[in-house]
Amino acid sequence: MHKSLNEQDVGTPRSSAVQQVTLEIDGMPVSVAAGTSIMRAAAINGVNVPKLCATDSLEPFGSCRLCLVEIEGRRGFPASCTTPVESGMKVRTQTPKLQSLRKGVMELYISDHPLDCLTCAANGDCELQDMAGVTGLREVRYGYEGKNHLSDKKDESNPYFTYDPSKCIVCNRCVRACEEIQGTFALTITGRGFASRVTAGVDQSFMESDCVSCGACVQACPTATLQEKTVIAIGQAEHGVVTTCAYCGVGCAFKAEMKGTEVVRMVPYKDGQANEGHSCVKGRFAWGYATHQDRITKPMIRSKITDPWREVSWDEALDYAASEFKRIQLKHGRDSIGGIVSSRCTNEEGYLVQKLVRAAFGNNNVDTCARVCHSPTGYGLKQTLGESAGTQTFKSVEHSDVILVIGANPTDAHPVFASRMKKRLREGAKLIVIDPRKIELVSSPHIRAAFHLPLKPGTNVAILSSLAHVIVTEDLLNKDFIAERCEDKAFTEWRDFVSQPENSPEAMQQVTGVAAELVRGAARLYATGGNAAIYYGLGVTEHAQGSTAVMGIANLAMATGNIGREGVGVNPLRGQNNVQGSCDIGSFPHELPGYRHVSDSTTRHLFEAAWGVTIQPEPGLRIPNMFDAALDGSFKGLYCQGEDIVQSDPNTQHVTAALSAMECIVVQDIFLNETAMYAHVFLPGSSFLEKDGTFTNAERRISRVRKVMPPKAMLADWEVTVQLSERLGYPMNYSHPSEIMAEIASLTPTFSGVSYAKLDQLGSIQWPCNENAPEGTPIMHVDRFVRGKGRFIITQYIATDEKVTKKFPLILTTGRILSQYNVGAQTRRTGNIQWHEEDLLEIHPHDAEDRGIVDGGWVEIQSRSGTTVLRASVSQRMQPGVVYTTFHFPESGANVITTDNADWATNCPEYKVTAVQIKPVAEPSQWQKGYTRFAKAQQNLLNQAQNG
Ligand code: SF4
Ligand code: SF4
Ligand code: SF4
Ligand code: FES
Repeated sequence: MHKSLNEQDVGTPRSSAVQQVTLEIDGMPVSVAAGTSIMRAAAINGVNVPKLCATDSLEPFGSCRLCLVEIEGRRGFPASCTTPVESGMKVRTQTPKLQSLRKGVMELYISDHPLDCLTCAANGDCELQDMAGVTGLREVRYGYEGKNHLSDKKDESNPYFTYDPSKCIVCNRCVRACEEIQGTFALTITGRGFASRVTAGVDQSFMESDCVSCGACVQACPTATLQEKTVIAIGQAEHGVVTTCAYCGVGCAFKAEMKGTEVVRMVPYKDGQANEGHSCVKGRFAWGYATHQDRITKPMIRSKITDPWREVSWDEALDYAASEFKRIQLKHGRDSIGGIVSSRCTNEEGYLVQKLVRAAFGNNNVDTCARVCHSPTGYGLKQTLGESAGTQTFKSVEHSDVILVIGANPTDAHPVFASRMKKRLREGAKLIVIDPRKIELVSSPHIRAAFHLPLKPGTNVAILSSLAHVIVTEDLLNKDFIAERCEDKAFTEWRDFVSQPENSPEAMQQVTGVAAELVRGAARLYATGGNAAIYYGLGVTEHAQGSTAVMGIANLAMATGNIGREGVGVNPLRGQNNVQGSCDIGSFPHELPGYRHVSDSTTRHLFEAAWGVTIQPEPGLRIPNMFDAALDGSFKGLYCQGEDIVQSDPNTQHVTAALSAMECIVVQDIFLNETAMYAHVFLPGSSFLEKDGTFTNAERRISRVRKVMPPKAMLADWEVTVQLSERLGYPMNYSHPSEIMAEIASLTPTFSGVSYAKLDQLGSIQWPCNENAPEGTPIMHVDRFVRGKGRFIITQYIATDEKVTKKFPLILTTGRILSQYNVGAQTRRTGNIQWHEEDLLEIHPHDAEDRGIVDGGWVEIQSRSGTTVLRASVSQRMQPGVVYTTFHFPESGANVITTDNADWATNCPEYKVTAVQIKPVAEPSQWQKGYTRFAKAQQNLLNQAQNG
């Protein structure tokens, strides 16, 4: 690949063939896999054939004619990129004739190219320039005065890259990248011959077209035609550091290309096992928040939230926080304080926060935001399969024949994995989508779902049971797998349960709103279509029956034997970068690292011996319990690292009332977020670019986060926790996060083989990694389930308490959009705002018409919890009776409307089902007016501190 510092581009992709072929290149014998191109065979053996239209991330195209070679016994000059090796072949890559042909090709290119190399942004990183050098071009006989493209207009509409057609050599790499890698099909070559141009959409600007700004085309472009604006502004990088994206649970690896301590660009890392050189708009481009002027870099304190902030030294802030926590515990008892750690933080940071709570606070009041997203995954998969994690690698999807997506919208929330999935679908795998909305996957270029089951929100369990009903009653079970791998009694009970007529698709149609024939068809396809994999997201977990639905998914996989090999499995798509990791390392109030219950005395004693403290055997408070306890006066102090509970937790007014009732809230973050407006101590956090650590993605893959610049506030987050702990009388002695990982490994059997040295050596590791699996475990439950035998669990559908009524006749469901991320604190401070500058309420045209609502008009949304106002987007993607919004902007107040209903097992909030009424209005809600006043006042209190 061209655009990444010092990485070799061997021209064409790897062949997957096992058979080896031996040939001779320039007199040198070489052996490569059958199907390898001559170009690649030469390059991996040190012979670089000139090329322009080939790059090893794309299938060869054979258009530039620069890579010609001579093959003994063959006429003409075949292109080495499109010609596969053959046994005994004798190839010559450098002859006078070849050199003259290549020089001729280059002359044609250069005669229509601006000669501004010295001032071009790609100077030093341009393949056209390189090839002019390689071919020995010294003069252009045709002159530069002929017909040319030099005055073609630049397209600067995209916030992150420019398109300068005057530099285009029409190599087609961008078009192929958009199709083959990204799967968006936004680009075409229009016109013929000399008039050929790359065109976005239907002769639109990049911004107006379907382009999703993944940057694959920019990366593939061999010239400065498609060029990052940061490179144009600051020039080429001088060194690169491999790190991991801090946004979603795909966990893409990037090379941060640097000029000193300044990021020039983020280039997806070709050897990154989660992304294999691809990325989305967030990871590649939306990193500017890290140096945004809103970053708070000085610690601050105040005694009341109506007081101005006072900037203080680290010592004073930490002394104050520690003294407040001690005072509160003395007055209100040991259990009156707790900690919350974000899934955005590293494993090492999360581990330290739970250690601080357990060892220095002396209780188990620690929780993580995974509580509000994937806690049902942890519970449901542990109960059925024995391990709280997904079963596969992302790559496994390349072997799937049937892909069932339920309650997930990968093209928006997990884009790089979505591209991989789409590639497999274009190759012929069949798709089943179970979602209330017609998400993009249902129908996108070259992809059509075989089945879309548009269920009513809140009925996942009903649909999963009716899918199971069809599989059992139509005799589609994998009986051998069940007999060998699963518990007999549990299976029989489950089989008898799902076979009951009330679980049939016909009976459940009333509940789910999905035609029985669709459910039958989908069940048959899932059970009989070959390797079938299930991918699911928060549309499954964030329900009153979230854990039941996760168990229903595991039941389906076991019933059909779709577990324990490539191409199958149960795959939770994790929202934030380190949701998996934050759960793994003991951030839940009931579990020590490695999902071991605090009541288990052997595990407790292990940690007690290592930490030199007594650990409480009773689980501590979960996040919602902390709020309830704050309101009843028993919970008074909170250490909140990296999490914006005010914006992200349901029923905002309940959350803010709880925070207002506490005596000391310590927020550690990079911005003054919504929660920090209720805080008494602000400890400046560090972005992922400023610290070392690890993230664990949705595939259980542990990857390194590497520091590329010093922390803006002097301390990395883990150092702050260490210093706070010391002031609370519990010193922690670490000089580097690698030592924290060494401690995690020494105390956690599934991590015992993990170390920074091994991560450096292998690139990344999928846990379990221990003496049985020293290099990690790509696929779980291969020969036996982690719990021994798989356990079917009965999944009785119970309708949520959140009922539609005459007063609240519609159901609101929520989700996210590609360009924004979670509470938006990071992405709102980047150019991504250009795609999505406010949260909208999507509504079906019938519902809109009934209420006199027009596209773009203001609508009030009222639920049993509260009222807010958003702009309407009238959309056929919705089904009648269901409305949808995102929650990326605090002023939208999406969570003012969501309720306290939660999953029965884990308290994960039921974000996906809220009964609402909507009507057109002309002004913001009372809550919004109050919010605006409060936020403005808090901003003033901050400004006063910062301006002295
Ligand atoms: S940025 Fe991505 S989506 Fe947009 S044109 Fe390029 S490859 Fe296609
Ligand atoms: S824009 Fe770049 S990649 Fe696309 S055809 Fe032109 S030179 Fe090739
Ligand atoms: S897919 Fe996720 S991990 Fe990858 S670049 Fe995008 S946000 Fe980052
Ligand atoms: S590189 Fe082979 S034809 Fe262009």
